[in-house]
Amino acid sequence: MITRDQVMERLATVMDPELHMPITDLGMVESVQVDGGRVQVGVKLTVAGCPLSTRIESDVTKAVSVLPEVTEVGVDLGVMTPEEREALAARLHPRRESVITAKDSKVRVVICGSGKGGVGKSTVTVNVAAALQSKGHAVGVLDADVYGFSVSRMLAARQQPVVLGDGVIVPVDVHDLRVMSMGMLVNEDTPVMWRGPMLHKLLDQFLNDVAWGDIEYLLIDAPPGTGDVAISLSQELPKARVVLVTTPQEAAARVAGRVAQMAAKVGQQVIGIVENMAYFRCPDCGEAHSIFGTGGAKRLARELNVPLLGQVPIDPVLPLGGDLGEPVVWKHPDSETAHVFQEVARAIVETDW
Ligand SMILES: Nc1ncnc2c1ncn2[C@@H]1O[C@H](COP(=O)(O)OP(=O)(O)O)[C@@H](O)[C@H]1O
Ligand SMILES: [Mg+2]
Repeated sequence: MITRDQVMERLATVMDPELHMPITDLGMVESVQVDGGRVQVGVKLTVAGCPLSTRIESDVTKAVSVLPEVTEVGVDLGVMTPEEREALAARLHPRRESVITAKDSKVRVVICGSGKGGVGKSTVTVNVAAALQSKGHAVGVLDADVYGFSVSRMLAARQQPVVLGDGVIVPVDVHDLRVMSMGMLVNEDTPVMWRGPMLHKLLDQFLNDVAWGDIEYLLIDAPPGTGDVAISLSQELPKARVVLVTTPQEAAARVAGRVAQMAAKVGQQVIGIVENMAYFRCPDCGEAHSIFGTGGAKRLARELNVPLLGQVPIDPVLPLGGDLGEPVVWKHPDSETAHVFQEVARAIVETDW
């Protein structure tokens, strides 16, 4: 005879795809009815029309079907009441106790910074995050480049994030990465025309109101340069480490140096430099050609006394993958380009915090 406890034990193995916790812990199991070999499970979703409802339904069915005497599993999907959502939000993420900004936070925050735009900062952020995820780490990605958001597109994360009661935002799950970007809140073609105070408020929400959960790493795609948001980020996250992205050009490296100075002012350590678009490997002769010059990144690394973590080649796969939401690290993990990002991820893991 199948018992309710047996069914609950099986349901405890079903994880909510976005909240990364067992549905039993989230109060999502509303009812369990056993009638001979037939098991009927009532599941409450956090919001109506939850895009992941079919996945939850099939995961529940699979999990319960494992019990030997079960012949049939039915799932009734319901929706939490506003009060239940509030309670869940309070439990998941007690307000003002951000896992990121708390003094004793265990989350390793890595800010990807650059002097100029267009040097590949977002590409590096997304691919290094993907490399950390592939190594089994729990990783969040925050697109803090509010005006120039692009992480949502690079990861094909266009759905709106779920907002639980009390303004707690659930990051969007992409292949186990927990992603938050302005691009998920506004239409991709809408220009963001906000002044300082609004930017601060948004950043504050991203850091404090998003239920990042039990992530080990948070990779932040910072806006280029030393503007408003970049300053706030450095001030709010003094324990964060910085990875600087630059092209080989002297001019680009020089502006990146200014970002390093800003980090130093608040005591953030620079883990190292990533030189992007370092060379182009000719597909015919196999030789590496320097297109954008050489030396800038090396010089900057020497000046800052930090390692050059990697040299990313110019690779047409990167813009293509960026448009399709397929980071090269996931799509072509054995390529020369992916290896560089994997090396950068390794350097981050080996960093003492
Ligand atoms: N190594 C590279 N090879 C080829 N294209 C690249 C490379 N790095 C970045 N790109 C492309 O250059 C553009 C700018 O990169 P992006 O990561 O958005 O820069 P940033 O975030 O610094 O503004 C994107 O279209 C991206 O796909
Ligand atoms: Mg960018």
